[in-house]
Amino acid sequence: MPGTDTTRNARLISWVDEIAQRTKPDAIHWCDGSQEEYDRLCDDMVESGTLIRLNEEKRPGSFLARSNPSDVARVEGSTYICSAREEDAGPTNNWMDPAQMRTTLEPLFDGCMAGRTMYVVPFSMGPLGSPIAHIGVQLTDSPYACVNMRLMTRMGGAVLDVLGDDGDFVPCVHSVGAPLAPGEKDVVWPCNDTKYIVHFPESREIWSYGSGYGGNALLGKKCFALRIASSMAREEGWLAEHMLIVGIENPEGEKTYVAAAFPSACGKTNLAMLIPPKGFDGWKVWTVGDDIAWIKPGADGRLYAINPEAGYFGVAPGTSMKSNPTAMNTLKKDCIFTNVALTDDGDVWWEDMSEAPAHLIDWRGNDWTPESATPAAHPNARFTAPASQCPSIDPAWEDPKGVPISAFIFGGRLSRTFPLVFQAFDWNHGVYLAATMGSEATAAAVGQAAIRRDPFAMLPFCGYNMGDYWSHWLEMGKKVTNPPAIFRVNWFRKNADGKFMWPGFGENMRVLHWIVERARGRARDGVESPLGVMPTRAELNWHGLEFDAKDFHELMAVNRADGLAEAEDQTELFARFKDRLPAEVERQRRALIDRLKAAPEVWELPS
Ligand code: GTP
Ligand code: SPV
Ligand code: MN
Repeated sequence: MPGTDTTRNARLISWVDEIAQRTKPDAIHWCDGSQEEYDRLCDDMVESGTLIRLNEEKRPGSFLARSNPSDVARVEGSTYICSAREEDAGPTNNWMDPAQMRTTLEPLFDGCMAGRTMYVVPFSMGPLGSPIAHIGVQLTDSPYACVNMRLMTRMGGAVLDVLGDDGDFVPCVHSVGAPLAPGEKDVVWPCNDTKYIVHFPESREIWSYGSGYGGNALLGKKCFALRIASSMAREEGWLAEHMLIVGIENPEGEKTYVAAAFPSACGKTNLAMLIPPKGFDGWKVWTVGDDIAWIKPGADGRLYAINPEAGYFGVAPGTSMKSNPTAMNTLKKDCIFTNVALTDDGDVWWEDMSEAPAHLIDWRGNDWTPESATPAAHPNARFTAPASQCPSIDPAWEDPKGVPISAFIFGGRLSRTFPLVFQAFDWNHGVYLAATMGSEATAAAVGQAAIRRDPFAMLPFCGYNMGDYWSHWLEMGKKVTNPPAIFRVNWFRKNADGKFMWPGFGENMRVLHWIVERARGRARDGVESPLGVMPTRAELNWHGLEFDAKDFHELMAVNRADGLAEAEDQTELFARFKDRLPAEVERQRRALIDRLKAAPEVWELPS
């Protein structure tokens, strides 16, 4: 029987056997997670054309993958939460009756791995053996998913040792849905037009079919660490969030940890790797995580966060030595790039990395020149890199007890209405600010509306009713005696000419600095605006940046009519939750309306 030499976990062995009988792979490979295994899988994929080996001098140990042009991002329309009752999935998730879904999946998975190898991928989300960590096992017919899982999680035989004979794991079944007939030649990126990304929260199972890309296929990430974990967290009294985690160190060596939620492709990786700008000598930002945080109350009444991942699956376009040198330095070797462009000397390129080379092979494999009408890299092109290669990695990033969080930051991509930064009056107000967060569309998922509500940046990732999720957050605030302060930020406000009003990136340090001082209760009184507490211009450190006082006031202004329209627009979201809407968030909305009505037409910071 497969695997009996690697594990004696009876449930695991019989489940692998059961799935193999259904999916009918030609072979089964139990991943040990070794470098040799990784190298061999990559070699095989170079052979088959799935990977292109990059120039060994310029990008040692690194590869380029080009996906099928129809398989480039998460597919939210095909993502399901199959709880027993529809109302437990809530109005923001797709739902199907679990029995009906199992019937739907049955013919799809029947023989779907024919002609392929089924890889058994044991992985730990969180440091191996940590009390906060959880184990999953992904069965997949995609070697690409396998090697990416090795970069993104703690993967391999050591996980089976921790699992032991009767340890528990989240079963994750993944198939690209492209069985091969005997003798049939494989394509470079097998996938299927039919896609299902399915979660059964009650039995804690994941079934993914038809896609080989990112969050659809690396099941430890969004499927497990957010959708299934958020549902576990609610039952067990913790939080699983779409958040980066950073430690902000001041010149005195004092470190303050903050966690920040931004929707997909809205700046988490960039903020997680921020390099302080001029005027911040002696300050340092340390990276704990760039996408996901698991957060638990500690005995001291504070919240502690771990990064359950072990790598970064980051947006490539826009990443440059100017915008994110830390990421660029993380990517120097041993990475996988997906859907970026290939240079003539065997290296990678993407939009805004540098001046465009005269000739490239674009992400579809076609010749490209700066005159071409389409981008060279897909807008959702990504890099996969081990976290250990990040120069700013926090020494505590693998601390099994996590790091203490002093502030939560929430931010969308909003060109209008929302100022650069403000602080919630208290926890409940903060929950309201996060719950009503909106954001403009990005390339991280196919078919997004131009602007949408993305509560807590969790709209596509909450594994249960979002109304219950808000209640859970309100409850957590009551349970935790020393909760983090909560802030809203917006790096994306635009002026009348459609230009970003704030330089962003490293300059966001000026905002982080104010947040740290506020969270620590130090010498920043702020001013009460209708939206929340704002910094006066004098409370921000402006050394090294020329930023006009007039521009700052415009950036921070609150327009009464826009604010009231926003509050009115929120009713549409709230109404969808019916009796699952916590009364407190509606109370907060009304309080905002009252504050706006009492405010001048354009509220401005005192100069
Ligand atoms: P996921 O990995 O999809 O969850 O995304 P993420 O939140 O980690 O996004 P990331 O940091 O990769 O941001 C991607 C996009 O946001 C890029 O287009 C960046 O150029 C842009 N971006 C990030 N920070 C800033 C900023 O401060 N200002 C502006 N204007 N753009 C920013
Ligand atoms: C996101 O879309 O938020 C990501 C990339 O971080 S994916 O893993 O594809 O979900
Ligand atoms: Mn993400």
